[in-house]
Formats: sequence, C-alpha cells, structure tokens
Amino acid sequence: MSYRERLERWFGHLPLEVDDLFLLERFQLLALPSRAPLPALGATLAADPRLRRFLVARCPELEPWLGALVDGLDRPTVDLEQRRRTLVWELADWLVYQRFPEAYDQIEELRWGTDQLGEICELEGRTVVDAGSGTGWLSVELARVADTVFAVEPVTRLREYIRGRAREVGLNNLYPLDGFLHRVPLPVDSVDVLVTSRAIGWELGAELTEIERVVSPGGWAVHFVGTPCDAPRTMVDDTLESRGYTPSRYRDGGGWRRRYTKRMS
Ligand SMILES: C[S@@+](CC[C@H](N)C(=O)[O-])C[C@H]1O[C@@H](n2cnc3c(N)ncnc32)[C@H](O)[C@@H]1O
Repeated sequence: MSYRERLERWFGHLPLEVDDLFLLERFQLLALPSRAPLPALGATLAADPRLRRFLVARCPELEPWLGALVDGLDRPTVDLEQRRRTLVWELADWLVYQRFPEAYDQIEELRWGTDQLGEICELEGRTVVDAGSGTGWLSVELARVADTVFAVEPVTRLREYIRGRAREVGLNNLYPLDGFLHRVPLPVDSVDVLVTSRAIGWELGAELTEIERVVSPGGWAVHFVGTPCDAPRTMVDDTLESRGYTPSRYRDGGGWRRRYTKRMS
C-alpha cells in the first residue's frame, strides 16, 4: 500500500482541502519540489493564483521553479478536481498536523511501547530529546519517567499541541523546542538520551554530526526508524551502520521495524 493510500485510510474522514496549504511552514514549502505530486500542484496553482502568490511570498527562491511548473502544464488534459484531491492526499500528513493533530494520536498502528527504549538505556532522572516529535505522543510517555524531555519539532502548531497535552496530563518537565534534527537548539554534551521515531534522514550526515554534538559521552542515540524489517536496505541503514550504530528491531502497531542504537564515547 502506498503512503498516500495509508494516509487516506487513516484520515479519509477528515475535511482536508487545498486551502490548508496556506498553513504550511516555510521548510515544508521548500520541500515541495521533492514531495508534491507535480502535475497536481501545477494544475492547482494555475487555477489558484492566490496560492501561487503565497508560495512565492514565503519562498521567493521557488519562483522560477513554480513558473516552469505552471508553464509546462498540459492544460487540456487536466481534470482539476482530481488533481486538487491528489495534491491534498499526497500531502495529507502535513495538513493533518496543522488542522487535526489529535487525529494522529488515534493511529495505534504508528505507536510503539516505550519499554523498547527502556530496555536499551536508563531514562529515570535523565535529560531526553525526542527529535522530530510530531504530536509528542512519545515525549509525553518519556516525560512520565525522565527528569526532563525536550520535544524538538519544527512545526509551530505541533509545538503548541504538545504544550497543551503536557498541561492536560499534568507534566511540567516537557519542553517543546523549535528546531531540526540537524540543528538541535541545545548545548554541547547536554543530553543523556536522544531518540527519534520515524524521524531521521532528511539530512542524515548533518543530523548524525549534530546528535554527536549534543549527546554527552556515555549517553545514547536510538533511532526507531520505522522501515519494516523485511523492506530492502536503504542509504539510511548503510549510513547508520557506517557511523557505528548497531541494528536491532522493534515492534509497533503495524509490525516489526528497524531500530539503530549507539552509545556515545
Ligand atoms: C513522520 S513524523 C514522526 C513523528 C513522531 N516522532 C512519531 O513517531 O509519531 C516526522 C516529524 O518530524 C518533523 N520534521 C520534519 N523535518 C524535520 C527535521 N529536519 N528535523 C526534525 N524534525 C523534522 C515533522 O514535522 C514531523 O513532525
């Protein structure tokens, strides 16, 4: 099943629409060339100059690319409604994060038991980073045990959501931080455990260097990568192993997945 099909299965009941693209962060808009279905985006922009103006205003560097995309359209064959729907559902994870973050927390298939982190390293009394934390479901679980948890997440709406969740469940040791995995806003050697869950590999080399900067000697980096164990190996697997990570596996609500662990020296 493709990623889009899974998104439709999880979130097909939600009223997502093209105008939700106006809510996206700049870093997400900059990723459109590699992430968006291009004929669908081009057709939507040709029909909606407001959206095109918004994209150019937020990301002037995309202007030539957007122009070429719209100019290159094969207009007579365009079925606009179908293309708008394709655009929305190919980007639905981003749109759900903005509009219905609580819906993500209902998807049991994506969750895994935190005992699978606890079996690797001590959490009690520790400073822990959950990088690329999404809605922060994992950060909340970790904050019940650890001393301090930083949820590093570049989407503003998600950081607000995590703050709300922490308050709701009475946690005062969980801090959402604006940042990226390749730019963690914490000092050198300040973290005992850094964990990622389906959140590594945008800029893998820079991310691994940043992790080595913030995790103190003797601390742990653990990546719950999310790739099914029976999938072909990827560049992420090769790079993690070449940088000293040990492969193992974990189980989430959907099956067995790849996990990588490294103790910092
Ligand atoms: C697939 S989601 C996983 C969320 C969460 N860790 C989980 O297990 O449900 C990836 C998250 O990483 C965030 N993200 C995207 N680019 C990132 C980057 N370069 N560094 C850190 N987080 C990033 C996204 O906004 C999103 O919230």
